[in-house]
Amino acid sequence: MDEQNLIDAALAVRQNAYARYSNYRVGAALLDDRGKLYAGCNVENAAYPEGICAEAGAIAAMIAGGGELIHTIVIAGGHDDIEDCTPCGGCRQKIAEFASPETRVVLLQPGGHTRSFPIDDLLPRSFHL
Ligand code: THU
Repeated sequence: MDEQNLIDAALAVRQNAYARYSNYRVGAALLDDRGKLYAGCNVENAAYPEGICAEAGAIAAMIAGGGELIHTIVIAGGHDDIEDCTPCGGCRQKIAEFASPETRVVLLQPGGHTRSFPIDDLLPRSFHL
């Protein structure tokens, strides 16, 4: 399983995004530390705050599937074409809950290349109990 597999999975699940209010479609695909892949897309709601981000869906699938730690998460989002979709603050906190210093957050960029970050770069000094 390489990064391209995760990019393909993120783009595929993005096709299923339910984004009728924002028209901003996001797919997230993550690999856990056991090598299992999980994916999620954003699921909006007429009551706007009830919407679910793609990352939250992928993380929920990992936990439901018995996974514990994110090895790599790829995020692909944009209106029609891919834009520089960086995770929202809430998703950064959700990723941090299941990340190690080795975890990579990979953002698909316009044109097909990627930018990769440790979660601590995206959410420095994050909250942990
Ligand atoms: N969204 C995500 O799913 N993930 C992100 O990282 C950024 C934003 C969704 C939420 C909403 O459905 C739409 O994108 C526009 O904000």
